[in-house]
Amino acid sequence: MRVLVVGSGAREHAIVRSLQADPDVTDIACVPGNAGIAADVRVWPVDVASGAAVVAAARDFEADLVVIGPEVPLVLGVADVLREAGFAVFGPSAAAARIEGSKAFAKDVMSVAGVRTAHSEIVDNPALLDEALDRFGPTWVVKDDGLAAGKGVVVTTDRAAARDHAAELLEIGRPVLLESFLDGPEVSLFCLVDGLNVVPLLPAQDHKRVGDGDAGPNTGGMGAYTPLPWLDAQTADSIVTGVVEPVAREMVARGVPFSGLLYAGLAIGVEGPAVVEFNCRFGDPETQAVLALLTTPLGGVLRAVADGTLDRLPALQWRDGSAITVVLAANNYPGTPRTGDPITGATGPEYMHAGTALRDGRLVSAGGRVLSVVGVADDLAGARADAYAAMDRVHLPGGHFRTDIGLAAAEGRISVPSRAGS
Ligand code: GLY
Repeated sequence: MRVLVVGSGAREHAIVRSLQADPDVTDIACVPGNAGIAADVRVWPVDVASGAAVVAAARDFEADLVVIGPEVPLVLGVADVLREAGFAVFGPSAAAARIEGSKAFAKDVMSVAGVRTAHSEIVDNPALLDEALDRFGPTWVVKDDGLAAGKGVVVTTDRAAARDHAAELLEIGRPVLLESFLDGPEVSLFCLVDGLNVVPLLPAQDHKRVGDGDAGPNTGGMGAYTPLPWLDAQTADSIVTGVVEPVAREMVARGVPFSGLLYAGLAIGVEGPAVVEFNCRFGDPETQAVLALLTTPLGGVLRAVADGTLDRLPALQWRDGSAITVVLAANNYPGTPRTGDPITGATGPEYMHAGTALRDGRLVSAGGRVLSVVGVADDLAGARADAYAAMDRVHLPGGHFRTDIGLAAAEGRISVPSRAGS
């Protein structure tokens, strides 16, 4: 099977690496890829927001399967154009990708499906912003209603900061979603979905704030670990049966069946799991850790979703132990990142590249999240040690990373909240 991967992040690098370990995958290419992916497989520049350009790339490569990593091409309908051209595709239609592309759509699906989520209101008129803010907070959760790569979200106890963020979005014509704050540890549960069939991967936890101890602004994600020692199997199962399956059924009922990876981001509070967001694709950086533990060959798994035969896929197999991923970010990320800095030491299977490029034969930074390092070991403490040893071997002037990825879990400091007295 020849597989074309679409995207240029560390998530796509992780997907490429897992596909390389699948004996049934004979060749892999990635568009547009990055400098690290180019060291592993063929890459070439393609505008991945253009269905016609991706179809041309798939034809050029004679792809048997196209795997779309990022949300933007999915929301723009690139999977639809590929399917119309006769390709097998891992990734939802534009209509189904609205579960991520429009938070208002996602809220409506959840409401009809009976899935717990934060109370929310859309504000699109600046004159109504103050009275809407008065109905929320503290803590205020202010989101861009569209795609914002994780950076459109401000969670703050400071009403003025919440107002400023909402006003900035309204000023550029973006509707704002105000949400009640969901307390409790967060879980990212990725589920393979083909219409009504749902197969969960291992639960993971992302670290979204830029600094240690969850300090500073939100980012696309600074690190993740899997599995979650503090999440019991019963609660994980309840996310599948009480959240993802009802949403999958509601999408089918609406005539927009989901096919691909449905990512449920949840907070586990005293009332149980509640949805923070849905995404229509593998999460980054969680994927780098989750795929590091998957031993079932990935190509066959993704092909089963694309073909609608997930119900016939044997149970997924996982390596025992833990995996973590730590993101190395460029100077000034998540603001405007500095690019063009030389990177050394980032060669080997534990490095998954994102914002990297070759300039005059030298590896340089080319984006905010520059690369991920992955550590795998028999326990979380060992996986942390493995990943941070790998991070110590990399040098990027001005680069920064969190030192506490998975630390609270490794030290047993995370627990699922329970009702007082229960
Ligand atoms: N880990 C956050 C995201 O992929 O959106």
